[in-house]
Amino acid sequence: MTILVTGARGNIGGRLLTLLAEGGHRVRGSARNTSALRLPEGAEPAELDVTDPRGAEQALRGVETMFLYPTRGETGAFLRIAAEARVRHVVLLSSPAAYEAGEYDRPIGLVHRAVERALEESGLRHTVLYPSWLATNARRDWAGEIRATGRVGIAHPDAQVNPVHIDDVAEVAARLLTEEAHRGRRQVLTGPRSMRLREVVAALGETVGAPVEVEELTVEQALGRRDPRMPEPVLRTLLEVTASAVGVPAPVTNTVERITGHPAREFAEWASANRADFR
Ligand SMILES: NC(=O)c1ccc[n+]([C@@H]2O[C@H](COP(=O)([O-])OP(=O)(O)OC[C@H]3O[C@@H](n4cnc5c(N)ncnc54)[C@H](OP(=O)(O)O)[C@@H]3O)[C@@H](O)[C@H]2O)c1
Repeated sequence: MTILVTGARGNIGGRLLTLLAEGGHRVRGSARNTSALRLPEGAEPAELDVTDPRGAEQALRGVETMFLYPTRGETGAFLRIAAEARVRHVVLLSSPAAYEAGEYDRPIGLVHRAVERALEESGLRHTVLYPSWLATNARRDWAGEIRATGRVGIAHPDAQVNPVHIDDVAEVAARLLTEEAHRGRRQVLTGPRSMRLREVVAALGETVGAPVEVEELTVEQALGRRDPRMPEPVLRTLLEVTASAVGVPAPVTNTVERITGHPAREFAEWASANRADFR
């Protein structure tokens, strides 16, 4: 039987596919456009947009379990086909934005809640993952500026987050896709500690081998520097959430250790493995 990993080009999906292939599992990795898809040895490609059921039957043939990315748009038709194809378990990557005050009724929360609802309505058995602040946010939000200037502008740098290593998220997903234990629950995944954003930057500086200066931005400055790929309402929500996390320790859970058997990885470990992106 095959495990389908949707979003095989994604940070978490790609890592998950590699872990499963290394573990000797039969895996299929999908992307909306497979031309740029690089798969580990033995993995099969599939072209699939989960909001367009046309590629679904082929992508789901012989699939026993599936990793699902939360995507904008209607996923109900695809999930109904998955139920008809007798997929036995789905692991959904969701976000605490689906339930946190100040987020659940805003754009990011609504996207995640819509996919969760579609999954519930499909009748498919599933487990939902809620990772905290992904360590890869540091690359997405700061790497370009740090490489160019050695500094980084951040609004509310004393806000606290709990960076979770994507290898831990992928490892938890791999366990849930291949073993019965821990399935069927909502799993809140965090790293081992709450850190202020300026501490996360300091950890990056140590890894890069040169301190990275934090420039504290006002909200208006942060909005003025918005990456055009980030819609303004989404950035506004993120800035509000960040403001509310100043002086508030981000929760720590034992989910990673409980499911994988090892403690959650430190942010510094992710930074060290990805230091080239910040130089
Ligand atoms: N940032 C955070 O702190 C945080 C916290 C909690 C949860 N999350 C969740 O984690 C996600 C980021 O994870 P990541 O870094 O691994 O993602 P990523 O690298 O941005 O990859 C996203 C994947 O989603 C796939 N995808 C998007 N739309 C699709 C569609 N319609 N049909 C099929 N596949 C589709 C993409 O596939 P293609 O190759 O087809 O483009 C891509 O592989 C966020 O979007 C959020 O939902 C984030």
